[in-house]
Amino acid sequence: MRFSAQLEARFERFLARYPQRRSALIPMLLYAQDEVGWLSPEVIAEIAGRLDLSVVEVESVISYYSMLRRRPAGKYHIQVCTNISCMLREAEPLFEHAREKLGIEPGEITEDGLFSLEEVECLGACSWAPAVQVNYDFHHEMTPEKLGALVDRLREKRP
Ligand code: FES
Repeated sequence: MRFSAQLEARFERFLARYPQRRSALIPMLLYAQDEVGWLSPEVIAEIAGRLDLSVVEVESVISYYSMLRRRPAGKYHIQVCTNISCMLREAEPLFEHAREKLGIEPGEITEDGLFSLEEVECLGACSWAPAVQVNYDFHHEMTPEKLGALVDRLREKRP
């Protein structure tokens, strides 16, 4: 499997930077995911091979981090935290609103490919609960109204 020339150059820099090749695993997975859209079995096998790791070792790392995806996602991947701090500040109705607004269940992608939805454990933004992450952007103290407006804004960006 080949990645873009730009990504291959980035991988070379990572591998030169870390004394232990395996230390480059998470950044390589993140950048591969950005390029391919998700961590497909082919991507996982390719990166495992480059770092002298087994597929199972790579999969175990992926399973730990909610930002690493084992399935395709929409252009805007919406993660809603429903863990304790967020739950105490109305994250569950917020998540229900996201399902209704997008018309999809967790793990699904809208028909136009724009949005996917995921319920996550903690985004590390507990002080600003309830927290939502859309791709790499955090949105704090979310309400159903703010989430609805955000989805509408992202829809309007559509070419
Ligand atoms: S519990 Fe929601 S961000 Fe930590």
